[in-house]
Amino acid sequence: MRRLDQLLANLGYCSRSEARAWIRGGRVTVGGVAADDFSAKAHPVDVLVDGAALDHPDGLLLLVHKPLGLVCSHEEREGPNVYSLLPERWRRRHPVVTSVGRLDKDTSGLLLLTDQAELVHRLTSPKHKVPKIYRAALECDLDPALIARFASGTLQLEGEKQPCAPAELRIIAPREAELTLTEGKYHQVRRMFAAVGNTVLTLHRRRFGHLELGDLPVGQWRELPLDSFPHS
Ligand code: URA
Repeated sequence: MRRLDQLLANLGYCSRSEARAWIRGGRVTVGGVAADDFSAKAHPVDVLVDGAALDHPDGLLLLVHKPLGLVCSHEEREGPNVYSLLPERWRRRHPVVTSVGRLDKDTSGLLLLTDQAELVHRLTSPKHKVPKIYRAALECDLDPALIARFASGTLQLEGEKQPCAPAELRIIAPREAELTLTEGKYHQVRRMFAAVGNTVLTLHRRRFGHLELGDLPVGQWRELPLDSFPHS
C-alpha cells in the first residue's frame, strides 16, 4: 500500500502538490472509484490516472544500446547522459533510474538501467562474478602471451590496491580482441591494455551476463522482466 500523492510523484507523473490537485480534480481512481483523499493508501495495481494503469509501479529494468558520446552520470555538468534516451516520466522517478555499473563516454554497447538498488548492487559486486564481454580495437598488434597474462589474476593497474581478477582474452585479429571481465574497475579495459603498453581505440560491450543486444538499434532500449537475474 502506498500513499496516493507520493505514489504518483515517485512514479514521475508530477510533483506531490500537483498530484493533490489531480486527485481533487477527479483524475485518479482507486478500485474504480474517484479518489478524494490524497493521503489515502492504495495498492498501485488498483490505481488509474485518467483511466490508465500506472506506469511500471513495481520498477524498471531496461537494456540500452548505449551510443558513443553519452555519460552514465546524472551530473548535468558531465555532459549529455544516457538518461536522455528515456521518456521524461521515467527520468523523474524516485528511486532514480540509474545504470548498473558504467560505460565511459567513448564506449558503446550493452548497458542496463534500473531503479532497483538491490539489483545494481548484486550485478556490480565482484563477488557475483557476472561476466561482461567487451570488444576492443587496439593501436598495436596483440601478443598472444597476453592471454596468459590477463588470465593470471596478477595484472596490476596504476592506483589500484588489488590486481585484476582473471580475465579471458580472445584475439580475433592482430589488433582486435574480446575481453571477458567479471569485475568493473574504473575504465578497466582501457587501463588493462594500457598496463601492457597498448591503447584501446574503440570499445564496445556486447554482452552482460546472459544478455546480448541482438538487433536493438543504437540509442534504443527494451524492457526486461525485473526477475531477469534470479540466480546472479
Ligand atoms: N572498461 C573501460 O575502459 N570502459 C568502459 O566503459 C567499460 C570497461
